[in-house]
Amino acid sequence: MTTRFEGTKDYVATDDLKVAVNAAIALQRPLLIKGEPGTGKTVLAEEIAKALGAPLITWHIKSTTKAHQGLYEYDAVTRLRDSQLGDERVKDVKNYIKKGKLWEAFESTGARPVLLIDEIDKADIEFPNDLLQELDRMEFYVYETDETIKAAVRPVVIITSNNEKELPDAFLRRCFFHYIKFPEADTMNAIVEVHYPGIKQKLVAEALRIFYDMRKVPGLKKKPSTSELLDWLKLLMVEDIGEDILKEKDPTKLIPPLHGALLKNEQDVHLFERLAFLARREGATRPGQ
Ligand SMILES: Nc1ncnc2c1ncn2[C@@H]1O[C@H](COP(=O)(O)OP(=O)(O)O)[C@@H](O)[C@H]1O
Ligand SMILES: [Mg+2]
Repeated sequence: MTTRFEGTKDYVATDDLKVAVNAAIALQRPLLIKGEPGTGKTVLAEEIAKALGAPLITWHIKSTTKAHQGLYEYDAVTRLRDSQLGDERVKDVKNYIKKGKLWEAFESTGARPVLLIDEIDKADIEFPNDLLQELDRMEFYVYETDETIKAAVRPVVIITSNNEKELPDAFLRRCFFHYIKFPEADTMNAIVEVHYPGIKQKLVAEALRIFYDMRKVPGLKKKPSTSELLDWLKLLMVEDIGEDILKEKDPTKLIPPLHGALLKNEQDVHLFERLAFLARREGATRPGQ
């Protein structure tokens, strides 16, 4: 089994990202990955698991997720109902304990599992602190059954955040931190090539130019990200739209074809059209230049 992450053929990992992943593995600390949506945080955890040949256990965090749900939940309501119905199951409290993702990860034997706690910033502010003990010691206590669940092997913990909320200091102290910068054109080219091997270089060059220009437009509500770019390129290929159409300078076509893949709300579309219009009038060819 490998214990180092060197990237995979499906994932473009920059050197500093590889260093961060391996540091977290070596230190046996959670790796906290921040970055704007679409910078490959979730996929990174999947790729780490693949590269290490380890099972991946994913815990998606929502605004309503509570820390204890990662350990276990005790279903008292069903137990009460079963007892009223005279169900035999009632005698064993274990029948009413639902294991959480940490429990699942701690139970995993064999290869060190990868535990992804995805979008931790979605939860309330107390959430990260409520998990400190359990993630530090890799064990927790189940009151209902009077047992301690302890990790057979320490999982590799990957925690992602879209930066919607600040995380508490005590939590940050325990993590190894890495910020995925939005990819530069070179890296983005490599990412596109991974997804669409053999795609026409000229089409990519033209599409990237429009994409990065669009991201430069000040005041966009939602900048298009890697996943939007990938969708857009796929559509361009499906619809057989070539780089010549993207270069179009016709003033009635202010906005690139199939822009619905890139801009996801009407204000942004409107803003882009207006800027494009102004740019044309001033003799430039594209907004953001
Ligand atoms: N470095 C990369 N290498 C390959 N694909 C990437 C990379 N970064 C992003 N992607 C692609 O972009 C999309 C969004 O990635 P995702 O992991 O869901 O982003 P995040 O979790 O940061 O919002 C996925 O389709 C993913 O395959
Ligand atoms: Mg994600």
